Amino acid sequence: MKLTPEQLEQFDRDGYLFFPGHFSPEETRALTDAVPELYSRREAYNVREKGKDAVRTNFAAHMYSTPFAKLARHPRMVQPVMDLFDEEVYMHQFKINGKAAFEGDVWQWHQDYGTWMNDDLMPTERAMNVAIFLDDVNDYNGPLMFIPGSHKKGVVDAKHDLTTTSYPLWTVDNDLIGQLVERAGGKNGGIVAPRGPAGSMILFHSCLVHASGSNLSPWHRVAVYLSLCAVSNHIRRPKRPEYIAHRDFTPIGLLPDDCLLKDYDVDLPWKDGLPASALQTSSVPFDEMKKAA
Ligand code: SIN
Ligand code: MN
Repeated sequence: MKLTPEQLEQFDRDGYLFFPGHFSPEETRALTDAVPELYSRREAYNVREKGKDAVRTNFAAHMYSTPFAKLARHPRMVQPVMDLFDEEVYMHQFKINGKAAFEGDVWQWHQDYGTWMNDDLMPTERAMNVAIFLDDVNDYNGPLMFIPGSHKKGVVDAKHDLTTTSYPLWTVDNDLIGQLVERAGGKNGGIVAPRGPAGSMILFHSCLVHASGSNLSPWHRVAVYLSLCAVSNHIRRPKRPEYIAHRDFTPIGLLPDDCLLKDYDVDLPWKDGLPASALQTSSVPFDEMKKAA
């Protein structure tokens, strides 16, 4: 799948591209059917909503679940990102966010690259977020919201919020959000929220400011978020556990386009559980560790 010149221009201007119904209902079902069992596991990689049992985020399913390992290598998802960077990419982060009916909590306004820079020492913004809806997303079940064009501001001021939700996040303060929304058109398009059927895909820039509200509706809003990083831009420090920020910088090898519907062999290195090394962290950058060794 090649992006058109119009799509490239739109991505540069708005910081995101929306592809409604990008994966068919059958392809999407192959993924959705695997989620309840993954969420039922009592493992470090399942982060639950504050004070609740509902899963907020499942990390790294592509390391232990066949359908998600195939999604991680899907050409309809990876190829446009490689085209945009003109380089091979590796998987920096892989999440299945629950946003469960009645229980799903907010994601405060933030940029992802801020966290990757501050925590993981990722050198530049050459990493892309991809969202794939596993449920229909509507006005009521906590759609992802963007401030169009906010990626043009680069990394903006943020503070590390450790209390609002169960997941620490570098969040942007309300005054700055107000200014960015005004600059993007205020009530006329200053905030957008792509909605569409399960199987829809969004590509969004790692500096695009985004958030989502809580889900008070009776409909789940499960979505996969994949963060693909240009190989030369790999992170320089293992400060966060490996199931959150990956340390294998091997370029993603693509599977055929029908991979979600057919059997293909995929490596599942964590199928028997997380290795101890995936939990280890260090504030020392990789190159200093090598020098010391
Ligand atoms: C994220 O920003 O990583 C997740 C947002 C969401 O699930 O709504
Ligand atoms: Mn985010």
